[in-house]
Amino acid sequence: MRLTEKVHHILTNHLKEGDRAIDATAGNGYDTLFLAGQVGSSGKVIAIDIQDCAIQSTRERLESAGLIDRVRLVSEDHATALGKLIEANREKVAAITFNLGYLPGSDKSIQTRAESTEAALAASIQLLSPGGCLCVTAYRGHSGGTSEAETVEAFMRKYQTEGHAVDYHEPESSNSPPVLWVLMKS
Ligand SMILES: C[S@@+](CC[C@H](N)C(=O)[O-])C[C@H]1O[C@@H](n2cnc3c(N)ncnc32)[C@H](O)[C@@H]1O
Repeated sequence: MRLTEKVHHILTNHLKEGDRAIDATAGNGYDTLFLAGQVGSSGKVIAIDIQDCAIQSTRERLESAGLIDRVRLVSEDHATALGKLIEANREKVAAITFNLGYLPGSDKSIQTRAESTEAALAASIQLLSPGGCLCVTAYRGHSGGTSEAETVEAFMRKYQTEGHAVDYHEPESSNSPPVLWVLMKS
């Protein structure tokens, strides 16, 4: 099972009708579409991406599926956008996904970076409801990816020692496969 499928499998069992969820790296909208399907017509998803083209691609995917009404699209850095949600004291969310790296088929220089990823992850912990699920897929095959994955690992280890349940998934492979961290907020 690919890690993207594993994330969807985990969240299929976790999310229910009416939940709130956030896709912190909307990209081409595959994860946003999945989240929108899981939360149902009474749920809400916020989808964030730093690139307008990604937000547009996500919009088109949701419109085609008839699910755009349950999604708010935000074209902004995710650390900034999540910080604003904390300030606005919005309702807590049941799940947040990060699929790090760059937009496939687009400018690879626009990729997630360790510093803002770490800030966005810290904000995510505040936004999750107790029992909420944070899924982070990190890629180690591109420049900056390895150090970003190490930052995610350090973040997860820290929160694990504070009592949150953390799972780690690494597919068997000889050359630096992507890795998945799943944190359940205590
Ligand atoms: C691997 S893609 C995400 C794939 C997506 N989840 C999907 O289902 O298609 C990573 C995305 O992160 C976005 N990104 C990079 N830096 C970001 C940042 N600081 N804040 C928000 N999004 C960012 C990129 O523009 C890119 O679209």
